Amino acid sequence: MMLWHVFATLDSTNDYLKRTYAQYKEPCVIWAQKQTKGRGRFARSWESGDDLTFSLFFPTPTPAYLLAPLSVVEALKAFHIQAKIKWPNDILIQGKKVCGILIEQVYEGSSCVAQIVGIGVNTTNKSGALANTATWVELAPHVLLEAIVTAYERLLRYRKEELLMLYRQYDLLQGQQLLLDDVLWTVQGIDEDGSLCLWRDGILRICKSEEISLRQLYGSDDIENHRDRV
Ligand code: BTN
Repeated sequence: MMLWHVFATLDSTNDYLKRTYAQYKEPCVIWAQKQTKGRGRFARSWESGDDLTFSLFFPTPTPAYLLAPLSVVEALKAFHIQAKIKWPNDILIQGKKVCGILIEQVYEGSSCVAQIVGIGVNTTNKSGALANTATWVELAPHVLLEAIVTAYERLLRYRKEELLMLYRQYDLLQGQQLLLDDVLWTVQGIDEDGSLCLWRDGILRICKSEEISLRQLYGSDDIENHRDRV
């Protein structure tokens, strides 16, 4: 059972852990009820108001690129909310992003001494994107947090192949066509390292999440809306 450390306000739960990881020896949850300087991927800022913002700390790395998105979609499923994973780890409901994940590691020399899994979920429903999801309004941040942490702890016991199989069940992009360098590719899915595999005319292209932003890949977020209509 992971211990929870609850803060009224932090700049960023990821940055807090980057500063203080040495004082935590066991996996734990850092929950900030308010975050003033949240960060997203590719140095974007993450505005969260009263939304759920927390980071999980692990002294040794976990396959977080699978565990983190899966723990969120499985937690939502427990509340009868169907969500999808958009590679690498955005969570979407009815085509709208409701959760972002920022996974970071701290190295001392060549060894990873801290894995920080930052998760932000839009629980306050400001955008109206979740208006049709009746259960959502009843989901207080701490209730959802508990469900996500429980799911993460359960999934930690899975083998990697099992996690990959589960990821594929929720994968929004699999089978979709994507434009990259003016060429249309078909998404095969993710490989065991969490890279996205694209295929066309006998050519396999493997994209790492650090190297590619899907915004850059599509030029727009239309794919979600398209998928919504299908
Ligand atoms: C993204 O979609 O770009 C990732 C967003 C990650 C936001 C979370 S909120 C909790 C944790 N602390 C941060 O500063 N960022 C992550």
